[in-house]
Amino acid sequence: MRMILNIVVLGLVLAVTQAQAATAPKETLFERLGGEPGITALVNDFVATVAADKRINHYFAKADVPGLKKHLVEQLCAGAGGPCTYTGKDMKTAHQGMGITTADFNALIQDFSRSLKKFKVHRRDQSALLALLTPMKKDIVGKR
Ligand code: HEM
Repeated sequence: MRMILNIVVLGLVLAVTQAQAATAPKETLFERLGGEPGITALVNDFVATVAADKRINHYFAKADVPGLKKHLVEQLCAGAGGPCTYTGKDMKTAHQGMGITTADFNALIQDFSRSLKKFKVHRRDQSALLALLTPMKKDIVGKR
C-alpha cells in the first residue's frame, strides 16, 4: 500500500514539474528574444531600417555591413545575458571622428524601437534593451 502511495506521489510531483516547465516564463532576456537566431533577425531588420533612413544612412555609406551586424548581434546577445562575447571595438573608438549628434543618436534609437515593436518584443524587454543602449550615448555622440 505504502509503495503504491509513493508511486502516486512521485507521479504527481513529475506532472506538476512538467506543467511548471511548460508555463514558466523564459528566464533571461536573451531567451525571450529567441536566442541568437532571434537577435540576428532583429539586427537584420534594424540595419535594413537604418540603411533606408535618410536622416542617418549617409554615416553607413562605406560601412562593413556584415561586420557591423555580427558585432551588433554579439553586443546585444552579451548584454541580454546570452553566451556571447563582444569582439568589436569599444563604442568610443568605433564612433570616433564621425561627429554624431544627439539627433542622429535619437533617430537610430527610434529605428531600433521600430524593430522591437515589429518583432513584438515585450514592453518590459524593450525598456531593458533601451536601458542597455542609452548609457552608450556619451561615448558615441560628439566624438569628433
Ligand atoms: C546605442 C547606439 C549605438 C550602438 C549600440 C552602436 C553599435 C555599433 C557597433 C557594435 C559597431 C561596430 C564596431 C566594430 O565593428 O568594431 C558600430 C559601428 C558604427 N556605428 Fe554605431 N552604434 C550606435 C550608434 C550609432 C549612431 C547614432 C550612428 C550614426 C548615426 C552610428 C554609426 C556607426 C558607423 C558608421 C559605424 C561603422 C560601421 C563600419 O564602418 O563598418 N552608430 N556601432
